[in-house]
Amino acid sequence: MTSNVKAYRAAILHSLADPAVVGVEASYEYFEDGLLLVEDGRIARVGHAAELLPTLKGVEVVEYRDALITPGFIDTHIHYPQTGMIASYGEQLLDWLNTYTFPTERQFADKAHASDVAEIFLKELLRNGTTTALVFGSVHPQSVDALFEAAEALNLRMIAGKVLMDRNAPDYLTDTPQSGYAESKELIERWHGKGRLHYAVTPRFAPTSSPEQLALAGQLFREYPDLYMHTHLSENRQEIEWVKELFPERTGYLNVYDHYQLIGARAVFAHGVHLCDEECRRLAETGSAVAFCPTSNLFLGSGLFDLNKLEQHGVRVGLGTDVGAGTSFSQLQSLNEAYKVMQLQGKKLDPFKSLYLATLGGAQALYLDDKLGNFASGKDADFVVLDYHATPLISYRLQQAKSLAEKLFALCMLGDDRVVQEAFAAGQSVHRRD
Ligand code: GUN
Ligand code: ZN
Repeated sequence: MTSNVKAYRAAILHSLADPAVVGVEASYEYFEDGLLLVEDGRIARVGHAAELLPTLKGVEVVEYRDALITPGFIDTHIHYPQTGMIASYGEQLLDWLNTYTFPTERQFADKAHASDVAEIFLKELLRNGTTTALVFGSVHPQSVDALFEAAEALNLRMIAGKVLMDRNAPDYLTDTPQSGYAESKELIERWHGKGRLHYAVTPRFAPTSSPEQLALAGQLFREYPDLYMHTHLSENRQEIEWVKELFPERTGYLNVYDHYQLIGARAVFAHGVHLCDEECRRLAETGSAVAFCPTSNLFLGSGLFDLNKLEQHGVRVGLGTDVGAGTSFSQLQSLNEAYKVMQLQGKKLDPFKSLYLATLGGAQALYLDDKLGNFASGKDADFVVLDYHATPLISYRLQQAKSLAEKLFALCMLGDDRVVQEAFAAGQSVHRRD
């Protein structure tokens, strides 16, 4: 064996499929004493330590006691320029944007500021075990350069784009259909497909783009292979009424994006809190995805996401934090809030569905499940080590647990950045808790 092979020994858990499709028991694989073999930044094998260890000769084995290895978490919707305004008081979406968001994003005209925040942002993601995210920049192209430069230095798989916004926003924060198109194109040429980076065409939401801008965004989305489209959809009731006024000729909010061909594989819509059956059907048949952002939906008072409805229609759903409207970078904390969102609707969220949403479900929503989401051989070695003794309470609670499901559930309810002992991207350690 060569020196670029390394093995990691701990309890290991990963998703194999959506529990809603195959049932809970068939949805995961668990090794109480497991071994994860990593070669050249990729997963070589996963299995029982007792079976794999004798086959290894001269391979370094890193052992974690009382810890669980899972795939790195995938955040399908987050805004990096909003890192510094997380937890801003008192408003719902439209007032929150005007009061806090737009003045904060203005600062990203300054590349040095953008680079400082990009570093803080990526560190925070990794501290929380999130190794891949779909990220909003600001309207300034240099904001995306700053994020991609920082992500490239860490060899992270990241997706991001410059915001397109040419109306209903302050002058200092708007582009034009032509400048937005041209600047996005330059960024695509510079970054899309470079290392593990991908570009997302990013109209902020229907109200802040003119029909001309949406038409050019739709054109750009189809111009390059494997591009993403990232926007917001049906988050807040006032917002939905506003979209009706702005686009009276369209049959609904999703129909605006549909009309401009901003839909399909790799189109990711954040929120979708108030979707009708027809919109769910259309999302499913086009292979589009929705990012469920529970901490944000509760914080902004947007409403309760109907996960089961989207599931029944077969819509791809990932989990998003939506920082800075979201109140945590932690996917575990997002799952904690997701569980409560379901409870308020008289529904359940199985812990293995939670695991799926934060890992393989996110990868499928992003069409990255050939590279991420579980420990199938050949996938990127992006994984996290979760510490069963992260806090006295977590340690004591987990000692009482009689099953893996109970342990996993308690970790989702009580866990946050404190449980993430180490995070790896492409086989390299990118965060180690002090
Ligand atoms: N809709 C349009 N812009 C935003 C934003 O920045 N955050 C959220 N949560 N919703 C939006
Ligand atoms: Zn958002």
